[in-house]
Amino acid sequence: MKAVLFYYSQSGQALRAAENICKGFEKTDVILKEIVPSEHYPFPWNSREFFEVFPETRLGICTTSIALPNLTDVQDADIVLIAAQSWFLSPSQPLLSFLCDENVKNFLRGKDVVFVNVCRNMWLKTSEALKLRFKEIGANFRGQIILQDKGSNYVSAITITRWLLHGKKEATGILPEAGVTEEELISSSRFGKVIENSLLSGSTASLQRELLKEGAIKYRPSILSLEKTAYHIFGRWAKFIRKKGGYKEPKRRFRVKLFYFYLLFVLFVISPFAQLFFLFTRPLRNIKSNKLRDCNL
Ligand SMILES: Cc1cc2nc3c(=O)[nH]c(=O)nc-3n(C[C@H](O)[C@H](O)[C@H](O)COP(=O)(O)O)c2cc1C
Repeated sequence: MKAVLFYYSQSGQALRAAENICKGFEKTDVILKEIVPSEHYPFPWNSREFFEVFPETRLGICTTSIALPNLTDVQDADIVLIAAQSWFLSPSQPLLSFLCDENVKNFLRGKDVVFVNVCRNMWLKTSEALKLRFKEIGANFRGQIILQDKGSNYVSAITITRWLLHGKKEATGILPEAGVTEEELISSSRFGKVIENSLLSGSTASLQRELLKEGAIKYRPSILSLEKTAYHIFGRWAKFIRKKGGYKEPKRRFRVKLFYFYLLFVLFVISPFAQLFFLFTRPLRNIKSNKLRDCNL
């Protein structure tokens, strides 16, 4: 059996997840390939560059290309894994550009694909976007694994901001370390085993069910409810900003800055109230069927 795992990682977190998942494969030859965008994204980010990527990312518009990956040694791969991340509730620009590349599309056509999203906690709309992309490409989306921050939405908003914008990942005072815990990254090797078993059984059709049994997605409905609302509002902001010009157009800077203040306000003022509202209205919501729809493919 042969598997190929494509990854994009800035901080090394998605790469650590990819490496650990590979460890779970015992009888399969797994080849790791990095997705290299032609645009360099800084890490840590400065806030101007961080928010500059927002409109196009949210709207699914590619602003970069990728270095042509060598696919000759993996043409016969039995399964393709992609480890990447969400940016602004959407596939990150490097992931998007990977999926927009004609060679990659041709390669993925007809192949079974598993997506590993290593993110903060808002992954649902990324999954929906990928479902559509894989369908358009003609790839079979067989599994998704979500590795996310464990802490409350409020705390992880603080810790991820200081990590992404100031490079401070470690715990300090009452704040925990940012990102997916090392323990979680290490234990993700179990997903490699599940994927390999499904390959060996000769059918990947029930792979997502098997991954879910292993805890591939921790479903947090109150956060996903916030994500759904934010996704629509972000879409309006993205279009509003783009009326002033495309990626890196200086004329749109003021609107990008407005979005920055809006996001801070939503993250730290509105979202705790929205979560409280969710809690009170929880009995009225059909969480079981939402979970079934959101976690399956
Ligand atoms: C520009 C940007 C936007 C982000 N937006 C989201 C998001 O919408 N949802 C989420 O859960 N995480 C989001 N994150 C957090 C990333 O998913 C996180 O940075 C990533 O998991 C770090 O791993 P990596 O360095 O290996 O990519 C965002 C990060 C960046 C840099």
